[in-house]
Amino acid sequence: MSATKGLEGVVAATTSISSIIDDKLTYVGYDIDDLAENSSFEEVVYLLWYRRLPNAIELQDLKNQLAANYEIPAEVISHLKSYDLNKVHPMAALRTAVSYLGLFDEEADSQDSDANFRKALRLQAKMPTIVAAIARIRKGLEPVSPRKDLGIAANFLYMLKGELPDDVEVEAFDKALILHADHELNASTFTARVCVATLSDIYSGVTSAISALKGPLHGGANEQVMKMLKEIDSPENAESYILNKLANKEKIMGFGHRVYRQGDPRAKHLQKMSEKLTKLTGEPKWYEMSVKIEEVVRREKNLPANVDFYSASVYHSLGIEHDLFTLIFAMSRVSGWTAHILEQYENNRLIRPRAEYVGPGKRAYVPLEER
Ligand code: COA
Repeated sequence: MSATKGLEGVVAATTSISSIIDDKLTYVGYDIDDLAENSSFEEVVYLLWYRRLPNAIELQDLKNQLAANYEIPAEVISHLKSYDLNKVHPMAALRTAVSYLGLFDEEADSQDSDANFRKALRLQAKMPTIVAAIARIRKGLEPVSPRKDLGIAANFLYMLKGELPDDVEVEAFDKALILHADHELNASTFTARVCVATLSDIYSGVTSAISALKGPLHGGANEQVMKMLKEIDSPENAESYILNKLANKEKIMGFGHRVYRQGDPRAKHLQKMSEKLTKLTGEPKWYEMSVKIEEVVRREKNLPANVDFYSASVYHSLGIEHDLFTLIFAMSRVSGWTAHILEQYENNRLIRPRAEYVGPGKRAYVPLEER
């Protein structure tokens, strides 16, 4: 019995939700490029949950149901006000708030399939409201109540800033949500599936997934990319900064991938958005710097940019604070997590692999007083 470090190449589940084949990402058979160009985030949420595209009535119905569930319990807001949000990472606050939210769902422990769909819907609808509430409460501001007439992307930006976003912002943000929605058996989705395969509840599954996403090797990378861009500060400094990091054997955040070899198909969409938005905000340097970094990392390490690289300058241009980037990832990826949780429940078996033991051989127990 020998272990495969990081489970590289191990096929640990079957899924009909998304696939990565030959560096192409599809959601239920639809190419991510087509979805990014033509669909909306709500359409993608429907696709992931029901494994087919909705017709117009079904889509409107889903939008109405999501909007009807945007509000979060007053207790969750009071909880977020009960400690100093400036002293914790907002991903830790989100993880705790989502777990707390489960306490107010009377169906939390129901294993009924309809109830699980309803819980998935509530989580998708409420997570953006929690993220916006975290962002405002830590600045001493009151949370802005959600608006039922707005879709997820527009409503989130509205709740975050307290003013209606323009169409360019909504379109860019919606596209970013589509691109982050699902990604086969990534670390957080695997975590969610392992959790609910014990027949634990959906809130536990999503809370575990948020915990896995928080790490800088996964969702936390986009925040680290922006930190790097700020440190570099101008395109002229990019090459020497990267060469220095590589010489010190440090990883460049936003590059590399366990599965993609030629490139992450999501990155090009975010790159285009980054170019457009950084120009519109009068800060093209973030894009120019990013292009230079990409060129150097490709040349030196032959590593492609991943989804997190250009999403950093996109979110920055949308006026989102840097430590909220991973929370944005979570409020999109909850669609994929819940889709995978529902799929796991449909055909469940406990996920319990083995470990290769590499510790000491059999030894005699030494009594405490003799040690
Ligand atoms: N910068 C520099 N070198 C990198 C690198 C990066 N971002 N990503 C991988 N490498 C190098 C490693 O140093 C290693 O080199 P070595 O064989 O000479 O030791 C080799 O590429 C393989 O890397 P490894 O970390 O084993 O690959 P992995 O499949 O386990 O990890 C990631 C995949 C995504 C975790 C890894 O590429 C990474 O840490 N990237 C930065 C974080 C990030 O952007 N995460 C978001 C992913 S969407």
